Order: sequence, then C-alpha cells, then structure tokens
Amino acid sequence: MKKDIADREDVSLLVHTFYKKVRANKDIGFFFNETINDWDEHLAKLTDFWESNLFLVQKFKGRPGRAHIEVDYKYEHKIEAYHFGVWLNLWFETLEELFEGPLAERAKNHARNLGHNFFMKIFSARPK
Ligand code: HEM
Repeated sequence: MKKDIADREDVSLLVHTFYKKVRANKDIGFFFNETINDWDEHLAKLTDFWESNLFLVQKFKGRPGRAHIEVDYKYEHKIEAYHFGVWLNLWFETLEELFEGPLAERAKNHARNLGHNFFMKIFSARPK
C-alpha cells in the first residue's frame, strides 16, 4: 500500500514529478517551458502553494488568479478548458502513482476546484 502525503518533502516530490510530466506534455508543456525562466524558484513556489493548501500553513505568497490571466493574455486568449483538463489528468496520474489517502484525495479535489476558479477568472478577464 502507498503512503499518504505527510510533509513538505512529500509535497516537493509530488510537485517535481508532476512538472516533469507537464513539461514533456505536447498539449500544455510549451506554456510552461516558454514562460518560466527560473525553474528552481517555480518549483519551490509551487511546493509552498501545495504545502499551504494541504497543511493549512501560510507559506505561499503569490497571485495565482492574476498569473493565469497574464498567461492567457500572452497566448492571445487561447487557453481552453481542455488545457485545464490535461493539467488535471497529469496531476491525478502523479498523485495516484505516488500516494494514497485523505490528503492525496484533498490534493485532487482542491486542484479540481482551483481549475474551475482560475478558468472562470481567465474567462471573465477577456475582452468582451
Ligand atoms: C488546476 C489547475 C492549475 C493550478 C492549481 C495551477 C497553479 C498555479 C500556481 C499556484 C502558480 C503560481 C502563481 C503565482 O506565481 O502566484 C501557477 C503558475 C503558472 N501556471 Fe498554473 N495552475 C493550473 C493550471 C494551469 C494551466 C492549465 C496552465 C496553462 C495552460 C497553467 C500555466 C501556468 C504558468 C505558465 C504559470 C507561471 C506564470 C509565471 O510565472 O509567470 N496553469 N499555476
């Protein structure tokens, strides 16, 4: 049986493994590869984000709503629900490979909700 996500080290493994898949993905990899320059910084930030999310600590400092609106602007408003679907599938796949338990489930549910939330923010920020 797999273990559940228990600490920052586990979150870091999750985030690193996930982004390897994202960067190699033909449908969404380029958004990340073309936008993120400092990968060490990005992976540390996303580890903070998920640590804050799963363990209710205050580590993450960022504006993810705004960040995604900017990415959508950069790509001329071509981000679609499909891209979020690919992102979520890779997130679920990584979680299922590595972990099992209530926190792994929470990471799935939160990502699903965040995906809706970010996409709605992107959508409502587009020129009418
Ligand atoms: C449920 C889905 C997603 C979650 C939970 C998520 C989460 C995040 C978070 C927390 C950040 C850091 C934001 C900050 O700096 O304040 C980020 C950045 C980013 N996200 Fe997402 N994301 C999701 C989906 C996507 C999708 C579908 C795309 C592309 C199509 C995307 C592209 C990016 C890019 C390129 C950045 C870097 C922005 C920058 O540093 O300028 N994300 N994401």
